[in-house]
Formats: sequence, C-alpha cells, structure tokens
Amino acid sequence: MTDITSQTEAALAAIAAAGSLDALEAERLETLGKKGWVSLALKTLGGMSPEERTAAAPAIQSARAAIAEALDAKKAALEAAALEEQLARETIDLTLPAVAAPKGSVHPVSQVMDELAEIFADLGFAVATGPEIEDDWHNFTALNMDETHPARAMHDTFYFPDKTNEGRDVLLRTHTSPVQIRAMLDQGAPIRIIAPGRVYRSDSDATHTPMFHQVEGLVIDRDIHLGHLKWTLETFFKAFFEREDITLRLRPSYFPFTEPSVEVDVGYSTEGGRRVVGGHGDAPGHAWMELGGSGMVNARVLEFAGLDSKEWQGFAFGLGIDRIAMLKYGMNDLRAFFDGDPRWLQHYGFSPFDQPTLSAGVGARA
Ligand code: DAH
Repeated sequence: MTDITSQTEAALAAIAAAGSLDALEAERLETLGKKGWVSLALKTLGGMSPEERTAAAPAIQSARAAIAEALDAKKAALEAAALEEQLARETIDLTLPAVAAPKGSVHPVSQVMDELAEIFADLGFAVATGPEIEDDWHNFTALNMDETHPARAMHDTFYFPDKTNEGRDVLLRTHTSPVQIRAMLDQGAPIRIIAPGRVYRSDSDATHTPMFHQVEGLVIDRDIHLGHLKWTLETFFKAFFEREDITLRLRPSYFPFTEPSVEVDVGYSTEGGRRVVGGHGDAPGHAWMELGGSGMVNARVLEFAGLDSKEWQGFAFGLGIDRIAMLKYGMNDLRAFFDGDPRWLQHYGFSPFDQPTLSAGVGARA
C-alpha cells in the first residue's frame, strides 16, 4: 500500500518534471505501458483471493487514474508550449511578394482594361457599366437601328426566349454602345465616360469568338467636334502603346449611331513576324490595321437618350480590347484568350503586383 503510494508520488513528480513529449512518453511506458508497474500491479489482482483483491484494488486503480490524468494534462501543456514556440519561431511576413511560387496571373484582357481605365481617367473619363443581358431598345433602337435596319441582322445576335415587361426582346448585348444610352439617360450631359466589357455575337474563327471585349467611349458637351475625337484617340494610343510615333488614319465609314462615321486605322510594321504599332501605314514596310469605329454621335441617338441635340454634341468610339491586347503583347490567336490554358496564362499573364499606373508606365513588364 505505502509502496504504491510512494511509487505514485514519484511517478506524478516525474510527470510534472518531464521537459519534453519524449520524456513524458518514457514515463507513460514506465507506469501505464504494457510492462509498466501499474499495469503489472493490476495483473496481480487476478491471482488474489476476493478479500485480498477488495483490499488491494482501490489503491492500484486510483494510482492508475491519477497517473493517467497527470499524463493527459502534462501532454496538453507540452503540446501547447510546443505550438507557442513554433509560432514564435516561424514568423511569416505577409507583406513580402510571393516570389517563391507565383501561381496566379492577371489575364491580358484584365491587364489591358486596367491600362485603359488608367489612361482615360487621366483624360477625365469615368468608367461606366451596363448589363450584358440587354434589351433590343438599348442595344439597337435607341442607337438608331430600328426593327428593319440591316445592321441588326449583321450583328448575329443571341436572343433569349423571354421579353421584358415593356415587351422588348431580350438579348446578349452585341456591343458596348448601349452603355452610351444608359449613361446619357442616367447622367444627362455633359458626360465623359468609357465603358469596357464583354459583348456577344454568334461568330467563331481564329479572329472571332462568341464572346469578346470592347471599350466604348462617349464625350458629350457643347462645341465638340471631330478634332477632339482625333486628339483623344491619338493621345490614348500613344499612352497605351507607349510610343510617340503612332499614326492614325480616320477612314469615312457608316454606323447608324454616328454621323459622320469613321473607322480608325493605325500604322504598323512587321518586325520578326510580329506586328509592331508605329509609323505611317503607307511608309515602306508598313500597313494599316483597323482598331475600331467612331464618329460624331447621331442627333437621333441624343434625342433617344433624352438630350437636346441643338444644345449638345459629342463623339463616340468603340474599340476591340482583345485586338489591341493582341497587338500590344504579340499574341496571334484570339481563341487562346479564352481557353483557360494555364501555360498560356503563365506565358502571357501579368503579375498581380504590377498595377498599371501612369507614373510607373501603364505597360506591364511581362
Ligand atoms: N458598336 C460598334 C460595333 O460594335 C463599334 C462602334 C462604332 C462604336 C462607332 C461606336 C462608334 O461608339 O461611334 O461594331
């Protein structure tokens, strides 16, 4: 009896003094382990007479309970201390860039949209948005394309089976131009916005995907003329392509929502199989590439959007974002943009730490 009491006291003292999980485990083996003295003492109960057993059992069982409880408590304390120590040792600086294993990258389309917003913000343009699921009034009618207008057929529109409450057809917007209408109705004039976003047409080959990206631009004010349009586009493209020798050609064209309408071409040369923007398109080794449409906003569009066309004029433009991204960053197949292939993204994607800013240069270092 005294034997067990003193052995238990010694064991409890050893457990309290254990400085490590290993030392604690050694103490557990010595007491509660298969060959530990508590286990062996419990075994002797089997060979005792009932009276002896009744006398001996409580002391052994309470020794086992006390030791088991002490072992558990000490184990928890040692583990908590080990965790504290590990946390103190492994300080991680979350402000450091993840140089070791950069995984995600910014898609070129997102990168170019950020660049556009940055450049146009500097010219005083706000970013406007509109729904991708549009109705045919905003997408066509208010842009001076009535039901019978042939341009409606040219847009290969995806229609929904539903109609709006006003009985309008519902569709996936075929261009970002309906945002012009929404912005004018919401904000009135004067106005200076760009509207980048997704647009949809039932069309697919190496240079067309059913979903692609455009950026719309709209400036409405008093006394706006084509010169403002040309200056704005030139200033934008110089900043975007980060070179001064950008030459634009405005070619007469037709869009129902502008009058006059022009198509915007930019001069480029081919260096090492790659198209490089810059120089006059008619110069030797150069050619013109179409970047988008633009013009002076048609008076009928202003009236549809609730503005007095005697008081207000403006210009608008629409550019293909994917196209100018391909041109700036040297990609040649549009379809790869939307394949979601991680190798392509690794190659053409941009670091999320590389925010385009005018002061640091809007062009990302790949
Ligand atoms: N919305 C036209 C398209 O998708 C592009 C366009 C042309 C937009 C002329 C404009 C513009 O704002 O003025 O084909």
